[in-house]
Amino acid sequence: MSKLTQSVAWTKLQTHATRVRATHMRDLFEADPQRAARYTLTAAGITLDYSKNWLVDETLPLLVSLAEQEQVGASIERMFLGERINNTEDRAAFHVALRANAPMHTAGRDVVPDVVRVRAAMRSFVDSVRDGTAKGHTGKPMRAIVNIGIGGSDLGPLMATEALAPYRHPRLTPYFVSNVDGTHLSEVLKRVDPETTLFIVASKTFTTQETIANALSAREWLVSALGSEQAVGRHFVALSTNLQATAQFGIDARNVFEFWDWVGGRYSVWSAVGLSLALAIGMDEFEQMLAGARAMDEHFKSAPLEANMPVVLALLGIWCTNFFGTRSLAILPYDQYLARFPAYLQQLEMESNGKRVRRDGEPVDYATCPVIWGEPGTNGQHAFYQLLHQGSEIIPADFIAPVRTHNPLGQHHRLLLANFIAQTEALMRGKTSAEVRAELVKQGLTGAALEALVPHKVFLGNRPSNSIVLEQLTPHTLGALIALYEHKVYVQGSIWGINSFDQWGVELGKQLAQRVLDDLAGPDEPSEHDASTQGLIKRMLLADRAAPLAVAKKGPLS
Ligand code: F6P
Repeated sequence: MSKLTQSVAWTKLQTHATRVRATHMRDLFEADPQRAARYTLTAAGITLDYSKNWLVDETLPLLVSLAEQEQVGASIERMFLGERINNTEDRAAFHVALRANAPMHTAGRDVVPDVVRVRAAMRSFVDSVRDGTAKGHTGKPMRAIVNIGIGGSDLGPLMATEALAPYRHPRLTPYFVSNVDGTHLSEVLKRVDPETTLFIVASKTFTTQETIANALSAREWLVSALGSEQAVGRHFVALSTNLQATAQFGIDARNVFEFWDWVGGRYSVWSAVGLSLALAIGMDEFEQMLAGARAMDEHFKSAPLEANMPVVLALLGIWCTNFFGTRSLAILPYDQYLARFPAYLQQLEMESNGKRVRRDGEPVDYATCPVIWGEPGTNGQHAFYQLLHQGSEIIPADFIAPVRTHNPLGQHHRLLLANFIAQTEALMRGKTSAEVRAELVKQGLTGAALEALVPHKVFLGNRPSNSIVLEQLTPHTLGALIALYEHKVYVQGSIWGINSFDQWGVELGKQLAQRVLDDLAGPDEPSEHDASTQGLIKRMLLADRAAPLAVAKKGPLS
């Protein structure tokens, strides 16, 4: 048994959970008209109503004791002090410095001047593309912005560019290419004109197979379409920490926007990785997003644990995961602009906390990150909410909604909000068999026909959810929302004792893919594999013999 599960705070919570399990939220609401007010927090333009959770009076203090016991306050300080909290990669996780407006030191150095310098370079580039003074090789202003990147070099800017679509420049259309599947790039290239397309190659390491393959193919397409290598200089920029590799790729140093190893990929949207977003919405709005995140940072740094929104959100997650055994978390934005927010959080949460060993290498004996998934409401209601309401597994959910819409259209927004609110109520209240019977009687059913239907129509309720409400989805509130989840993830990682900032779990697949790639390139003796893997390789090689699977020439990645 680990120290954590044997600790005083943990065991107290275990005992407490047995008691709370015997309560129903519906009764708790009936007993306390102040419940919602007591369990609501506001920070940085975001309101979190967490009253529809398994909470009685003692719960939050006990959860906060766990946070205190695991020294969450000290962890928060360490992050803002730029300490090397990413211990397995021996570096800081200092994304908060990207949105700071005062000196922030790591390794004895104030990094903010560098951040400001790169941001100034981004601003002049962004302005020149947006006002049309930056021209392509044939003298035309840019119309398409194609971000080539994957993981953190894709999901953040993609999600935010979609989320902030109302702020987009009318001439510039953003595209995002991430998948190494040639279909992704090909479909984008079909839609853009080489004379007016700017490619942004975003890669922290600049060694990521998918990104380099896509970048090379895009470059080949551009050069062949415009008939000159010279065109690359005007149509390609890079975002990276690896300036040597960007130079090797042939991108002029003046077209490289750098960031630093203390910026984790999934925490990089605030850095030069946000360039595609900044081009779309303009630098002023981009800086508004930074300001929103900064407001959440200030709150995170200074609010007491029990009133600290990221801490409370983290503790509620731990309460559900570790003491009630829930295994996934649904992210349900009631805002079409946030359609990619669940995918963004998948990387943020699962790549950060999807780990089975602690910082010191000891295996955990408790659950860590749940599976994160979700879709915008109301679409999800007509797809998977059945399981949320009546499934055999309880799935906590974060509902996210803006009070105001960017697109007032008849009754639409009222309908949307009504659905959001009603879903949280239904999950919490449920419907008892007595209520179902009364309803069926009203509909004229009696006897066996009525009784046969009752179990199907009962909702147990008592299913937890958080309601996260923004005044409107703006760069500022989006910044605060992302920072809220970033900090939540860090707090959970701190309590679970894991390093939220490495991602060794992605390595094995990458290594094996390289071996399989060599085998598929043939004709050498294939490397050793199990029978299934061998069979799949043979299947592809046979097909390749019949008709080549890839263009004959050996590319730089083959
Ligand atoms: O393979 C996972 C990962 O390393 C992510 O952590 C990262 O966001 C993504 O790949 C892309 O990495 P890069 O920005 O270096 O291309």
